[in-house]
Amino acid sequence: MPTSDERLEQLKRMRSEALIGGGPVRIERQHTFGKLTARERLDLLLDPGSFVELDAFVTHRATEFGLDRQHVLGDGVVTGHGTIDGRLVFVFSQDFTVFGGSLSEAYAEKICKIMDLAMKVGAPVVGLNDSGGARIQEGVASLGGYAEIFLRNVLASGVVPQVSVIMGPCAGGAVYSPAMTDFTIMVEGTSYMFVTGPNVVKTVTHEEVDSEYLGGAATHTTISGVAHLAAADEATAMDHVRRLLAHLPQNNLGEPPRIPSHDPVDRRDPELDHVVPDDSQKPYNMHDVIRHVVDDADFFEIQPGWAPNILIGFARLGGRSVGIVAQQPAVLAGALDIDASIKAARFVRTCDCFNVPLVTFVDVPGFLPGVGQEHGGIIKHGAKLLYAYCEATVPKLTVITRKAYGGAYDVMSSKHIRGDMNFAWPTAEIAVMGAAGAVNIIFKAEIAASTDPVAEQRRLVAEYEAEFNNPYVAAARGYIDDVIAPSDTRPRLIRALEMLADKRDTNPRKKHGNIPL
Ligand code: HXC
Repeated sequence: MPTSDERLEQLKRMRSEALIGGGPVRIERQHTFGKLTARERLDLLLDPGSFVELDAFVTHRATEFGLDRQHVLGDGVVTGHGTIDGRLVFVFSQDFTVFGGSLSEAYAEKICKIMDLAMKVGAPVVGLNDSGGARIQEGVASLGGYAEIFLRNVLASGVVPQVSVIMGPCAGGAVYSPAMTDFTIMVEGTSYMFVTGPNVVKTVTHEEVDSEYLGGAATHTTISGVAHLAAADEATAMDHVRRLLAHLPQNNLGEPPRIPSHDPVDRRDPELDHVVPDDSQKPYNMHDVIRHVVDDADFFEIQPGWAPNILIGFARLGGRSVGIVAQQPAVLAGALDIDASIKAARFVRTCDCFNVPLVTFVDVPGFLPGVGQEHGGIIKHGAKLLYAYCEATVPKLTVITRKAYGGAYDVMSSKHIRGDMNFAWPTAEIAVMGAAGAVNIIFKAEIAASTDPVAEQRRLVAEYEAEFNNPYVAAARGYIDDVIAPSDTRPRLIRALEMLADKRDTNPRKKHGNIPL
């Protein structure tokens, strides 16, 4: 019988064995590729000393292909909980040094255990992904493990925040776990995500492509929109995670943390009075508007490189976290296209899940015309954004800075779809369409019959603009709660947020809606 000292010695030995995963050579190789180990990453992510590991003694079950001789304590994933800014978070960190971070049945069970715990106590889950996919030796048991995780991703969706960081390979069906989480962050140069890799692509479609172009960080943050943020290195990726979680509650029953700022809540900003050009065809940068309104000019933009005609991201107003959706008139004149609709719809729903009020800045000439857009399904994709705004029950504040034309006026958090407080600047133009298009339709015959059609058209456009290109027709009907000086925007939004702090709104009871996917 071993003595208690010997037992303690054994525990110590096993713990230090678990700490080195696949061993020093593989750790060295990981570092050579510019990647940290699973544990080093957790040290970067979590508050110092806060990590509590679970299941360090779990090993895989496979016995085929010599795996009976290669048990590694903890298997290929480090799991547990810790804190970020003092708030509880559950984590898993895939260990590429152990069988390439590939997922075994036991490994999946470790991840499922912390996901179940996160749901039980209501805390976010952060997954650090660096894996060769399904553990080939385990076959269907590995596939089953993935499916168990997918199920939990879905059940946890909208209950606790889920964030994925891709820090190495993430391929095949494995991509669908990050895809179902709330945010995906990719590290530039070392991470990639694809359903089928370059070799399969070459065989099937004869396209020659490398992993980086097929599924690297740049591709997924500018072309596909699969990822939300790219990070220059692993430390920056962890900063992104911490910044995201700082804007979210622990779960759907909580509120996002309120972080006081020295930026005065009654700060008027005269520069805002001159952001919108007098010529309504001229672009301007909506970032200037957002920066001058929010606390400390701090706007955490999400998906900045994809569909840049719409801006989404987090900021604070009077210390309260808000989700901002804003047209960007400097790109495509701020028109809503397929990608912009999908991008904003998803973000509106994310904010609504997690009780983050929405602030929408509107300058939209309409939906983008074109065969490509129509054939690509702008009808169903645009409907996603409309659906998301209609469905959202968080406080919804809207500021129309300039154009709000046609169906896009309705979509962009209008009063009619439960906008709580809708403001317009004096520069707002709220109408079915632009003046030129309108008179060409309504006065087609008059213009054609005129002795000087050009002058007649110009006169009618000016008349129409004077009549309709302003916020007062909408304000007269109460569709706009107030027309405000741009410089007053910050204090007015903060007052509105305070007024709406205890807002309660519900949707009819149902199993779930049927958003047009
Ligand atoms: C078991 C694996 C493995 C896997 C890698 N390894 N992938 N072991 N199952 N899926 C092991 C290797 O044998 C090696 O072990 C170590 O991990 C490192 O792998 P290397 O190939 O030496 O590393 P590298 O050159 O960096 O290449 C990494 C890689 C490559 C690109 C990920 O290993 C690879 O292509 N792996 C297979 C990927 C794959 O096809 N997975 C299944 C996809 S299908 P040693 O002992 O030498 O360190 C899938 C379905 C999921 O995932 C379905 C969900 C629904």
